Amino acid sequence: MKGILLAGGAGTRLYPLTLVTSKQLLPVYNKPMIYYPLSTLMLARIRDVLIISTPADTPRIRELFGDGAALGMHISYAVQEKPEGLAQAFTIGRDFIGDDSCAMILGDNIFYGNGLYHKLERAAENAGKGSATIFGYYVEDPQRFGVMELEKGIGGDEKNIRVLSVEEKPKNPKSNYAVVGLYFYPPGVSDMADAVQPSARGELEITTLNDMYLHEGRLQAELLGRGFTWIDAGTFDSLRRATDFVYMIEQNQGMAISAPEEIAYRFGWISGEQLAESAERYGKSPYGEHLRAVLEDRIVL
Ligand code: TTP
Repeated sequence: MKGILLAGGAGTRLYPLTLVTSKQLLPVYNKPMIYYPLSTLMLARIRDVLIISTPADTPRIRELFGDGAALGMHISYAVQEKPEGLAQAFTIGRDFIGDDSCAMILGDNIFYGNGLYHKLERAAENAGKGSATIFGYYVEDPQRFGVMELEKGIGGDEKNIRVLSVEEKPKNPKSNYAVVGLYFYPPGVSDMADAVQPSARGELEITTLNDMYLHEGRLQAELLGRGFTWIDAGTFDSLRRATDFVYMIEQNQGMAISAPEEIAYRFGWISGEQLAESAERYGKSPYGEHLRAVLEDRIVL
């Protein structure tokens, strides 16, 4: 399974912060925003990742992760000339995806919660069987999101939840479940994305792509219930909430979350020597100190 991290966009809602900087490189407490979605892809055991960003920002992101060797991964890069929509990721990524299934995560989406790994595993299994998977999260203001209509009477941990419809920013939402920025697709997604026509706002919508899978009877949903946190960090309010959230978790537990080097080490993708080298790169920062604690086995989970 391949993974795409879509980290372009204009970030207009964060002007002037994002006038000359990528949204995905802004801090979420103590690390760049992009560390969080990269960690989520890694938790899905995806080692081959394509990062797509703007012409201006791609070189900066490449400086951060290089070819991914320090994470025991293969990270490549592609440019999206203009933010023409999320579904474009799959046409830009056509050669990268090849005949594989592919997950896609948005560069400003932060996921945290025990058991996320199992949901990701199930989504990858679905992709292997020819179905796409989307994830739903309860929100108060569904009008701002893609919204999924679900079969009545389902519970949060139910498998194979049937989706009845998906709609982009509906005026009269059929549920409170927003479709979050993490999607799993079976082989052939680039060809499906070719058929997506621009919406009224001129974007190649991921909701249109999901609707195609729905009509073919190949769309599944997983709900992220109360035990999960999902934050789309694209506004001042949500960016602040993301920072507060990570601060609270890290202070409470006394250890860092979403540290890609730690995940790579625990999965056996990198050696202790490689982790030590990475820790060195982060110098005396708390992040570097965290990596040293992992290396010295002071943190055992
Ligand atoms: P959005 O938050 O919808 O758009 P944006 O980042 O351009 O921000 P704003 O609305 O403030 O102008 O995008 C969600 C994520 O997807 C974000 O990480 C940027 C990324 N994105 C792309 O990389 N390419 C695109 O064509 C679009 C629409 C978004």
